[in-house]
Amino acid sequence: MTGPMLRSRCHATRRAWAALLCGWFAAWLPLNARADAEAGKAKAQVCVACHGPMGNSTTPDYPILAGQTARYIYLQLRDFKEGRRSDPRMSPMAANLSREDMQDLADYFAAQKLVTVPFKSDSASIEAGRKKSAEVLCTMCHLGGFAGQNEIPRVSGQLYPYIVKQLQDFRAHTRTNDAGNMASVSRNLSDEDIRNLAAYVNNLQ
Ligand code: HEC
Ligand code: HEC
Repeated sequence: MTGPMLRSRCHATRRAWAALLCGWFAAWLPLNARADAEAGKAKAQVCVACHGPMGNSTTPDYPILAGQTARYIYLQLRDFKEGRRSDPRMSPMAANLSREDMQDLADYFAAQKLVTVPFKSDSASIEAGRKKSAEVLCTMCHLGGFAGQNEIPRVSGQLYPYIVKQLQDFRAHTRTNDAGNMASVSRNLSDEDIRNLAAYVNNLQ
């Protein structure tokens, strides 16, 4: 066998192996993601009692989880578990979750479609909220349309009473797991500003 022929046969063999490996990875990766989502779905059964079917809560105090960023959900679960954020109804739910549980749950809820529950706000409040949001530069962190990204939560379409409560909690320093970001933002907001901002952001799709 001549040198060049040998090289080209080796080359062909390497290509065949690469194709085989690529094919195997392509088949394995989605299977793995599906397995995680399935695991998350099973674990989420206890959560949907409060957070609604597939994380689409319709109960004022229970936030919508559907369509939230996976990273933010994971971090909040970890904060509840470790006591950096606390709520008498939610903290016990996170207490016994493992790191893997939290990741599976975060992936599951992030993959669900958000169904907005529009709060009946008058157009004057929505407009006042839009102006306040522009003045405070909320979207500098939350991105346009309050869509969120990674550790910054999506707030568009979130339930009105829940948004009001969180802004009040940040202002009152009863929620302090935000590394100071929301504490400084909410310091100068009046109750009316908070209601207007909640009306505006809840009505964003
Ligand atoms: C008994 C009702 C209840 C159950 C069951 C429950 N939660 Fe919650 N959860 C709450 C409440 C209430 C809050 C909001 C607390 C607050 O006002 O700060 C919350 C907040 C959260 C948040 C923070 C959301 C955000 O936008 O900041 C996440 C994430 C969460 N829950 C995930 C879960 C998961 C995952 C499960 C299941 C393992 C679960 N919850 C089970 C009541 C519940
Ligand atoms: C400097 C960056 C920054 C700015 C500006 C900012 N936010 Fe936030 N916001 C955050 C971060 C980070 C969090 C999540 C905190 C955590 O990890 O608990 C958050 C959380 C929130 C939450 C709680 C969401 C939930 O699901 O519990 C609401 C509501 C909110 N922001 C509304 C606003 C509004 C309205 C404005 C403008 C008035 C604003 N934010 C401006 C960074 C910012």
